[in-house]
Amino acid sequence: MNIIKRLEWRYATKKFDKTKKLPISKLNILKQAFNLTATSFGLQTISLVVVKNSKLRTLLLEHSFKQAQVIDASDLLVICIKNTIIDKDVNDYFDSIKTIRNTSETILEPYRNNLIKTMTGMSAKEQQQWSMNQAYIALGNLMTVCAIEGIDSCPMEGFIPEKYDDVLNLKEKGLKSVLLLPVGYRAEDDMFAGFKKVRKAISDTVFEL
Ligand SMILES: Cc1cc2nc3c(=O)[nH]c(=O)nc-3n(C[C@H](O)[C@H](O)[C@H](O)COP(=O)(O)O)c2cc1C
Repeated sequence: MNIIKRLEWRYATKKFDKTKKLPISKLNILKQAFNLTATSFGLQTISLVVVKNSKLRTLLLEHSFKQAQVIDASDLLVICIKNTIIDKDVNDYFDSIKTIRNTSETILEPYRNNLIKTMTGMSAKEQQQWSMNQAYIALGNLMTVCAIEGIDSCPMEGFIPEKYDDVLNLKEKGLKSVLLLPVGYRAEDDMFAGFKKVRKAISDTVFEL
């Protein structure tokens, strides 16, 4: 199937088949795709929390406006951002570049100092907004990879992040939840699977100059 057919196949799955689990190999593909997502400067201030535990997911249901995808999907992916970005985050990143690419400190130093200045010059709120932009890129990337791999998913903003943070103990990890992506396989009777796509005409959304 070509990529457009795959994207037409995907839809925001409302009803997952509770009995079908993603094989570990597919979950590994999603983990790798998340980690390969492009981020601004390459700083990766986002994390992915994979929630398999059904007791935790039952607790999360009431903080998700009762959207059953949270409990019925094979796995619940929670995309998170770092609460704050500090010097160490930038230093760790540049140290990795040094190790992986064997780049000298002389070349890296001005970039390192500039990025520390940029990041620490932001308020915590600005940092979080900046990281949130990266989280949406990861969501899009994961959704496309799901479509290619024949995995059903539902992008979700409909949940209460503060409650998720409490239930999943995310503060302990220095994280905040921002987006959900339950993944698995559609139920045979999910009527949304058969609905025609509602999209504007391409001529209304894409302009060539
Ligand atoms: C950022 C974002 C948040 C969304 N939040 C929810 C949600 O909380 N619950 C839900 O059922 N669908 C949610 N959706 C799904 C959209 O309603 C859906 O993608 C849109 O109507 C287009 O339909 P399609 O994805 O089936 O083609 C969300 C989609 C996006 C991109």
